[in-house]
Amino acid sequence: MTRLICVSSGKGGTGKTTVTSNLGAALTQFGADTIVLDANLTNPNLGFHLGIPLYPNTLHDVLKGEAHITEAMYIHNSGLRVVPAGLSIEDLVDTSPENLSDVLLDTVGEPEFVLVDSAAGLGNESISAIEASDETLIVTNPNLPAVTDALKTVNVAEEAGTDVLGVVVNRKNDHESELQKDEVESMLGYEVIMDVPEHEKVQEALSVKKPIVHHEPEHHVSERFRGVAAHVAGVDYEPEIEEKGIFQKLLGRIR
Ligand SMILES: Nc1ncnc2c1ncn2[C@@H]1O[C@H](COP(=O)(O)OP(=O)(O)OP(=O)(O)O)[C@@H](O)[C@H]1O
Ligand SMILES: [Mg+2]
Repeated sequence: MTRLICVSSGKGGTGKTTVTSNLGAALTQFGADTIVLDANLTNPNLGFHLGIPLYPNTLHDVLKGEAHITEAMYIHNSGLRVVPAGLSIEDLVDTSPENLSDVLLDTVGEPEFVLVDSAAGLGNESISAIEASDETLIVTNPNLPAVTDALKTVNVAEEAGTDVLGVVVNRKNDHESELQKDEVESMLGYEVIMDVPEHEKVQEALSVKKPIVHHEPEHHVSERFRGVAAHVAGVDYEPEIEEKGIFQKLLGRIR
């Protein structure tokens, strides 16, 4: 059965596209037939994260009824299938995010996972992405504004009748000022599936247009993303998460 999962956050820049591309890549590595789709219609950039060249048809053409979803699907050399969105302002004309539900239904049947990369905020396009999906994965950062915005997304996801899978706390630095796991869980009412540290390698991977799980598969951040994928897929996989020693913890706090 195909699982339609929206990756959403409320606040912008929390790492939705980073999580979508790495989760898609990791699920593919686990052998799951997976499609990632860029539903950030105003500021799409999933294609950059995966190195997808400019492609003749995009999700915008599909939403306008000018192409079928299969005509806007690019096969990444890893096997992951990608539906990019159009990059030009003209692409926005006559594009109806409300059609996303029908478009996603056209993917149901064959793939195991369709991951929907959502826009920030709670405007029409991000609400349509949540409503078109069956499950929602929340991405947040360990600070009050990000978690407060994530809570609004949780409320929308619940009202839309989707299952909230849990929370990925991205860009964690171990600063004392950051919200801790139990605080995030009590604010959002859902389990934190994984903390993902802030690391320059994630940005380096983006600069070479690869998810970090492809760029540096052995890196501890890649382990975390594979851990998220294993949780989502129910795969038995124990990510190698090295516990920080007391000295490193203290250093993090002093910083
Ligand atoms: N764990 C991390 N460590 C370091 N940099 C990160 C991490 N996660 C994401 N980033 C960087 O943060 C920036 C924003 O990430 P991303 O584009 O995934 O966020 P987003 O939530 O999709 O943003 P938007 O709301 O604009 O769609 C990117 O430059 C990305 O490389
Ligand atoms: Mg994004």
